[in-house]
Amino acid sequence: MRMSAFFLPTLKETPTEAQIVSHRLMLRAGMIRQTSAGIYSWLPLGWRVLRRIEQIVREEQDAAGAQEVLMPTIQSADLWRESGRYDDYGKEMLRITDRHEREMLYGPTNEEMITDIFRTFVKSYRQLPLNLYHIQWKFRDEIRPRFGVMRGREFLMKDAYSFDIDAAGAKRSYQAMFLAYLRTFARMGLKAIPMRADTGPIGGDLSHEFIILAETGESGVFCDKQWLDLDVLAEAPNHGDDLQAFFDRFTSIYAATDEKHDADDPSTPKDLVSARGIEVGHIFYFGTKYSKPMNAAVAGPDGEPVLVEMGSYGIGVSRLVAAIIEASHDENGIIWPDAVAPFKVGLINLKPGDAETDRVCGDLYAGLGASGVDVLYDDRDERPGVKFADMDLIGLPWHLVVGPRGLKNGTVELKRRATGAREELSVEAALAKLIA
Ligand SMILES: Nc1ncnc2c1ncn2[C@@H]1O[C@H](COP(=O)(O)OP(=O)(O)O)[C@@H](O)[C@H]1O
Ligand SMILES: [Mg+2]
Repeated sequence: MRMSAFFLPTLKETPTEAQIVSHRLMLRAGMIRQTSAGIYSWLPLGWRVLRRIEQIVREEQDAAGAQEVLMPTIQSADLWRESGRYDDYGKEMLRITDRHEREMLYGPTNEEMITDIFRTFVKSYRQLPLNLYHIQWKFRDEIRPRFGVMRGREFLMKDAYSFDIDAAGAKRSYQAMFLAYLRTFARMGLKAIPMRADTGPIGGDLSHEFIILAETGESGVFCDKQWLDLDVLAEAPNHGDDLQAFFDRFTSIYAATDEKHDADDPSTPKDLVSARGIEVGHIFYFGTKYSKPMNAAVAGPDGEPVLVEMGSYGIGVSRLVAAIIEASHDENGIIWPDAVAPFKVGLINLKPGDAETDRVCGDLYAGLGASGVDVLYDDRDERPGVKFADMDLIGLPWHLVVGPRGLKNGTVELKRRATGAREELSVEAALAKLIA
């Protein structure tokens, strides 16, 4: 993409309405535009990041055996009356009446709808286990939407739902999602800490929240230092390995919210770190809470009907964009982890109009593109200082700087955004390094 043609409405001034750094940087980097309280449009740069995050979530759900579906945003109130949640949910639910005076709602979550789909089609224990997920916009009429997409009213969530014939099966499904979550967040360059959690309005027996450490987080956390040193991708087993052993190992490492923890209690593990964090995922095992009132039963081995055991598993996909920025930025802007970066390389032409510089930049742009490397080429007629500042702000992992002075010696400069480390390389060497 050529920056001269790219719709990237960056801001020079720091927006005063934004209280936390991720919100400020998302506005300054031209990623989002608020359309009303807690409701946002995603502009090209933001949309690219959102899609990358969504794709990692999708790949890890698929790898864990979940199957993708897509349910609508608008649901019928009748389904929610069956579970009893239509009245319980309160003002967070956006209620809508259609032209026939039928009561509808913009879904805040999908337990009822997936249970309805399940009971319509699944009749035998032989069709289990089953895990269905979708990645869809949700609406919760939060009393105080704030911090940009961190706590919006409309937000993108991945929600998965597992169905098993018995509690032992449901626990295995829960453990498979627990593993998938650790892998998902680690792939995004995040340190996510699973904490035992209350089950809240979803209800049920077993629940973990996944918390990203960040000073601006809304959740207080106590966690064992072991979590901070853990390399999840190196340690987590492959899918299909012994999940119980892995689950026991990971859940034995201490993590808790501050409400449940007393630092003076002698049973408190040592090496505890007190921190703040952002909830990016939440998983629940809730047994027959929905299958019972909605009568989702299958024929068991002896032919008798058995209510299915269920769990649900959410990831805040749009919140993750902000959470990643909270965890990875500096005074100059965003530092995207490679896996979610909107482009891998920012190519900076220091002197547009200089024939040799234009030619080398053109070759690099074409060469990288031909190898499938996403490049944002700053071909604008702007001062170098402006270009460096913009490139730092939008946080692409590699900055490739090309100008007449370097080219006299046959070199270009490659900068790593995360460390600031720079090296002078030949054009060929730079190309080889970025394609590798
Ligand atoms: N208002 C919101 N804005 C952005 N993301 C949200 C919002 N509410 C929830 N999420 C994300 O969706 C995930 C699943 O939601 P859930 O646990 O059901 O919500 P909550 O913790 O608000 O009760 C959360 O872990 C969070 O990452
Ligand atoms: Mg939650």
